[in-house]
Amino acid sequence: MKGIVLAGGTGSRLFPLTKITNKHLLPIFDKPMIYYPIQTLVEAGIRDLLIVTGGRNSGDFLRLLANGKEFGLKHINYTYQEGEGGIAEALALAEHFAEDDKICVILGDNIIEGSIAGAVRDFEHQERGAKILLKEVPDAERFGVADLAGDRIVGIEEKPARPKSKYAVTGIYLYDRTVFDKTRTLKPSARGELEITDVNNAYIREGTMTFSYLDGWWTDAGTFESLLRAANLVHETRQKNQRAVAAV
Ligand code: DAU
Repeated sequence: MKGIVLAGGTGSRLFPLTKITNKHLLPIFDKPMIYYPIQTLVEAGIRDLLIVTGGRNSGDFLRLLANGKEFGLKHINYTYQEGEGGIAEALALAEHFAEDDKICVILGDNIIEGSIAGAVRDFEHQERGAKILLKEVPDAERFGVADLAGDRIVGIEEKPARPKSKYAVTGIYLYDRTVFDKTRTLKPSARGELEITDVNNAYIREGTMTFSYLDGWWTDAGTFESLLRAANLVHETRQKNQRAVAAV
């Protein structure tokens, strides 16, 4: 399986922090934001990575990450998103890289405590379709929200005023190669973007979407509050792990 980190967009919700740098290069406790999603993919056994960046500071990603030695990699692929036409537009740029392989896509501002290795393994065995990871949250209206009927997912609503469940769709997506046929059919949403939620709903309509629940904490880092929360969660987890090591 190949891995794709989406790190384009302008990060306008974090202005002026993002006036002179890319959101994904901002610090989350002791590391640049982009380190965390890369680490999530590498920990799940994914070694073939593409970073999609954009904006004026895209060259900084190359200087920061180079060939990925810090992550035990020999090489990283990069591509450039002109403008900020949405998550699905950024994903569509990965078609040449994915070739016929399955892909695991992670948003560059999504940070998790645990591992996605189990979901990646399960998806290796899934014959076709897609898989998403859900997380119960207190503020579902900020995210894509799953509409669940028993153990089935029947739809996803993007930032609904009245969420149909407490389950956010996290920014970790597993797709088969038909994802690029789906991105080609998309039309811009009311906010002028090609929406990843429309891609996921296409899989749901087709009856090939599966889901599981993400263990451990999950946060995005695209607002001042969530940027601070992400740093605090990483710090607390680091301290907890250090105490556990000291206790043995
Ligand atoms: O964090 C999970 C949520 O991410 C999902 O629940 C939503 O369904 C999904 O739409 C998305 O919501 P946001 O509105 O929070 O996404 P945002 O515009 O902040 O973009 C998230 C990341 O996607 C960003 O850090 C980089 C990447 N991105 C985004 C855009 C708009 C790109 O690479 N290119 C883009 O044009």
